[in-house]
Amino acid sequence: MEKEQKKNKKPAFVAVKGIYEIMPAEFPWWDRFLEVAEGVSKFYNFERIETGIVENADLFLRSAGGEGTDVHKEMFFIKSNKDKWVLRPEATASVARAYIEYGFSRLQQPVKLFYFGPMFRHENPQAGRYREFRQFGVEIIGGENDPVFDAQAISLASRILKEIGFKDVVVEVNSIGCRVCQPAIKKKIQKYYRTNIKKVCRDCQTRIDVNPFRVFDCKREECQEVKKAAPVFLDLVCSNCQKHLKDVLEYLEELSISYELNNNLVRGLDYYDRTVFEIFVEAGSKGEKKEENASKLAVGGGGRYDYLIEMIGGRPTAGVGFSFGVERIIEIMKKKEIKIPAQKNKYKSVFFVHVGEVAKKRSLKLVEELRKNGVGVIEGLSKDSFAKQLKMADKGGAEVAVILGQREVFEESVIIKNLKTGIQETVPVEKMAEEVKRHIK
Ligand code: HAM
Repeated sequence: MEKEQKKNKKPAFVAVKGIYEIMPAEFPWWDRFLEVAEGVSKFYNFERIETGIVENADLFLRSAGGEGTDVHKEMFFIKSNKDKWVLRPEATASVARAYIEYGFSRLQQPVKLFYFGPMFRHENPQAGRYREFRQFGVEIIGGENDPVFDAQAISLASRILKEIGFKDVVVEVNSIGCRVCQPAIKKKIQKYYRTNIKKVCRDCQTRIDVNPFRVFDCKREECQEVKKAAPVFLDLVCSNCQKHLKDVLEYLEELSISYELNNNLVRGLDYYDRTVFEIFVEAGSKGEKKEENASKLAVGGGGRYDYLIEMIGGRPTAGVGFSFGVERIIEIMKKKEIKIPAQKNKYKSVFFVHVGEVAKKRSLKLVEELRKNGVGVIEGLSKDSFAKQLKMADKGGAEVAVILGQREVFEESVIIKNLKTGIQETVPVEKMAEEVKRHIK
């Protein structure tokens, strides 16, 4: 690898564009995120689920977005003779499928589930947007479509972020209506946009026919004026949906969760009804003043999906949930220099040093014996020079070294050396594990 870098030559193979890979140096951040996210979710009585990465395309086409929508355009289809398979673009539809397939309706309702894993979307790669990325999500499925569950999902998201160390967590909330009021809302929005059709971009001109709510997602300059004056969801949703939203907001207030009503908030997936929300954190780096970088970044999104299970062949079942984009969270954690507790190593480690060929052969067995006794061992079995091995010990942070030379092999002993004080003693090999344990207590 070094050679190739020297020549400044690109390696023959590099990761596929947009595929986010996690290198060892990044894992302390990922481990920290997962430790908190899983810990808090379990504390809130959520159970882990892991569904397949490959799914039937129709599962998402029927629920998240049909032909012509972004979901359809962004899916990675798997070539196969007869089956229409995809790499999952999200996991809510998968969890809903599992709910039906494994008969979760027979369990105590609602079921509360969480998941973590890779998702795939063929998007234009850019900062915070990848083609393979990981989501941590939770779903509350079954029971009543009680607003208390919307608030519980939002509160869980907020609690996870706060526990990680984010101070400014804001949730934007909206209601996009239900099956009763949505057809009329769509018509009103279409009517309004059609009378302004020349003032909006080409994409919005198409969206208004294919997927009218998505016009509110448009960030283009030319569309902002029309968007600003468009009919407002809050005035258009039916009285039941208004009451539902009001209750959600009251619960959030009760829980002291900061939210903002955003009347333009719609989501990119079709299965939502009523509550939709997005979770933001302030993403400026540690030293920056807020005004200098008033950039809040969406790290998660979710909402209610009371028709999803029906859409994919199940009985009417309420549901609500959210997912985080974990790469984004990790990137902001690093930028903000959010402290992660020092990694707790389950085993205290010793460094095993060998001198000479005969000792090297014997070392492997002794290293295994230490490990069997629960002692973590760092070894440099391929590094023959004594100095190189000691350098490794230093880097690995070991406090105790076990040294085996020709003489020790012959005498059936090992040297145990305290690397801090330099004090060493020779012990018989059968007492090695016991003595080492005493030293690293
Ligand atoms: P989503 O808004 O499509 O919702 O994705 C959730 C989060 O995943 C986003 O807020 C973002 O942080 C992250 N994300 C999305 N696309 C990318 C990408 N290309 N690269 C990196 N991160 C990305 C869902 O997926 C729903 N299943 C959420 C949900 C759960 N709704 C109800 N339950």
